[in-house]
Amino acid sequence: MEREKLEALLKEMTLEEKINQLFQLHGSFFEGDTIATGPAAEQGFSERSIQELGSVLGAIGADSLKRIQKNHMEKHPHHIPLLFMADVINGYKTIFPIPLAQGAAFNEEVARTGAEVAAREASAAGIHVTFSPMVDLVRDARWGRVMESNGEDVYLNSVYAKALVEGYQGDDPKAEGKIAACVKHFAAYGAPTAGRDYNNVELSERTLRDDYLPAYEAAIKAGALLVMTSFNTLNRIPSTANQWLMRKVLREEMGFQGVLISDWAAIEEIAKHDLAVDKKEAAVLALKAGTDIDMMTNCYCAYLKEAIEAGEVSEDLLDEAVLRVLELKNKLGLFENPYKDADAEQEKRWILCEEHRSKSRKAAEETFVLLENDHMLPLKETERVAFIGPYVDEKKILGFWSIFGEAKDAVSVKEGVSERVKHAVEAGQVTFSQGCEILTEEEFVPGFDPKEKNSAAGQEVSTEEMMRQALEHAKQADKVVLCLGEHTTQSGEGGSRAEITLPRLQMELLRKIAAVNENIIVVLFHGRPLDLREVKALSKAVMLAWMPGTEGGNAIAATLYGDVSPSGRLPMSFPYSVGQVPVFYAEFHTGRHMESYMPDNRFQSRYIDAPNAPLYPFGYGLSYTTFAYEDIRLHVEKDNISDGNAPEENNDGIALHTGEKLLVSVRVKNTGSVKGAEVVQMYVRDDKASVVRPVRELKGFSKVWLEPGEEREVCFTVTEEMLRFHNINMEHTVEPGSFTVFVGSDSTTERQAQFCFL
Ligand code: BGC
Repeated sequence: MEREKLEALLKEMTLEEKINQLFQLHGSFFEGDTIATGPAAEQGFSERSIQELGSVLGAIGADSLKRIQKNHMEKHPHHIPLLFMADVINGYKTIFPIPLAQGAAFNEEVARTGAEVAAREASAAGIHVTFSPMVDLVRDARWGRVMESNGEDVYLNSVYAKALVEGYQGDDPKAEGKIAACVKHFAAYGAPTAGRDYNNVELSERTLRDDYLPAYEAAIKAGALLVMTSFNTLNRIPSTANQWLMRKVLREEMGFQGVLISDWAAIEEIAKHDLAVDKKEAAVLALKAGTDIDMMTNCYCAYLKEAIEAGEVSEDLLDEAVLRVLELKNKLGLFENPYKDADAEQEKRWILCEEHRSKSRKAAEETFVLLENDHMLPLKETERVAFIGPYVDEKKILGFWSIFGEAKDAVSVKEGVSERVKHAVEAGQVTFSQGCEILTEEEFVPGFDPKEKNSAAGQEVSTEEMMRQALEHAKQADKVVLCLGEHTTQSGEGGSRAEITLPRLQMELLRKIAAVNENIIVVLFHGRPLDLREVKALSKAVMLAWMPGTEGGNAIAATLYGDVSPSGRLPMSFPYSVGQVPVFYAEFHTGRHMESYMPDNRFQSRYIDAPNAPLYPFGYGLSYTTFAYEDIRLHVEKDNISDGNAPEENNDGIALHTGEKLLVSVRVKNTGSVKGAEVVQMYVRDDKASVVRPVRELKGFSKVWLEPGEEREVCFTVTEEMLRFHNINMEHTVEPGSFTVFVGSDSTTERQAQFCFL
């Protein structure tokens, strides 16, 4: 539909009808194909609002959504179609590894493929919009939602943000198999004070702009059609009411023209933050800030009319918001085809199809991070291996936000291993035992039913008996693979933890097994960085499996038995202890830099009872093979013409000018005996500036798979734009001077070279 027609439609709509376009209700209010007016009325939603509803969240299924759409359009005064939105995060039914694990792949194609698969399945099921990607930068492992992010790094997050949006939307979200992306949570939701969900966020404007905003901006530049507000306050203002953030930063500076949707009930929460006396005032503040859709409250649909008629907020602002919603429907082609791709046959064809499962498995294989390996892995088929732990036969490995994924469709470690080494299992040379539960009854997780502990069989067996059997198996084995981890409900929304260790019983199990067999390989299932000091001390190999998704067990079996080498790298620093948190590599120089040659000097920026460094740094991860690097080489490319191997040098060394590109290259060789991937990482440090700059920042990464003995030149580009930051005058610029570039296998690499920007 042409824009003029949309504008004409808007003119025809009554005030109430326009307001109701901004109203969004959850699918749970539907009874069959119509909304249950009783429960809706209890929540303050009138029959008229329901009839003129603008969008629905959380409803799925081609046939059902088609009927809902048909019914709705018939009754709607202007026959305007509904938008169906849902949280399709790391998959719809075929579940990929959680987003944090995808970050560990250090390969944005993993995220792109995951988004494509999710869009294909979700669109067939009638969904038009996903509330993804979440691109919140995360640096506090206590916060449960770190699992939904791609990690602690500005650059990594930005690269992934773009790939995810492109994966969901393709070139045109109207096209078959595509859905619209909603970037969230704007802004800085990933930095709640003390890691406690929904808490206040305190950031300087410089930190906000340099570190937190770039990933949202990358997603918007990639064409994301929606943005979601965040629950938190920023500069003491709840985002949903923050006019500076939404109108100036988001719309004016970033040029976002799409729909801004509130997070769940966030408009009403403006009043709970004490910024408004009631829902009406909250609605006025939200509309003034430019929040278009009201998710799940009646603030807009019950109070905006009165506020507009009383002149408390202008109808023009309402019209702007409604037009944006109509435009979104139009961009998705709903005025021509309100059902879009909803089709029961296509649902059957795509959901959990072999192609999707195989993509999910490949993705999982790229996300595992090998932290330790003292000659333990890969396993040999001839070895006697005892697989022990509550995650051996566990299918709830999809992650907290896989709300449409079903555990029954997932492959457990036991199933994966039984398939991979069938003969060894049949011969009794490979054994499986649970050892203990994931959590004890006392380790209460609010909102979690302890009776529904995990999906493993044999719940009636006492913990003593489970442990006894596990110890028997461990004694008879050459090696023990211990599958341990957090419960799915211990991360995700509302999953903040003050302690980030493994659950108590599992640590007890580890200690007992270690007393009878020292050849322990720990495989971890989790949604956040954990304190792994004791795990490291008691085992000879540690591999992170995160929450690996539908094909987790197959991917783990393939990796443990050496069909593929682990190639993930840490997307967040793993702290030495929770007391270090937030700990991240891109920290700042203090005036009292901790010097290792002065261990007795307490007056340095340090802990007296712990190291400053995390247990495992950002970017770290081992492989079954080893890699060797040659020195870094730099050369400048002018006007897209490389000046060959003769870099321009003056007294300051290599000089880069505006409009030129610095090419940073390094040769990497696989020096081991198996194929493996190295994640070559490039960091840059601004050696002197008008404000304190991070000690280094990731500016490029490249995952290269190399055969034994194979070597390759890996090349990165540095441009002026990549060196920009907010200087003393808050200008986004580069200051002339010296820079250091580091290239290596993690964020602690010391392989470096110098250049200057003139
Ligand atoms: C979460 C959002 C999510 C929304 C809708 C909220 O609680 O913060 O990330 O998209 O619910 O389910």
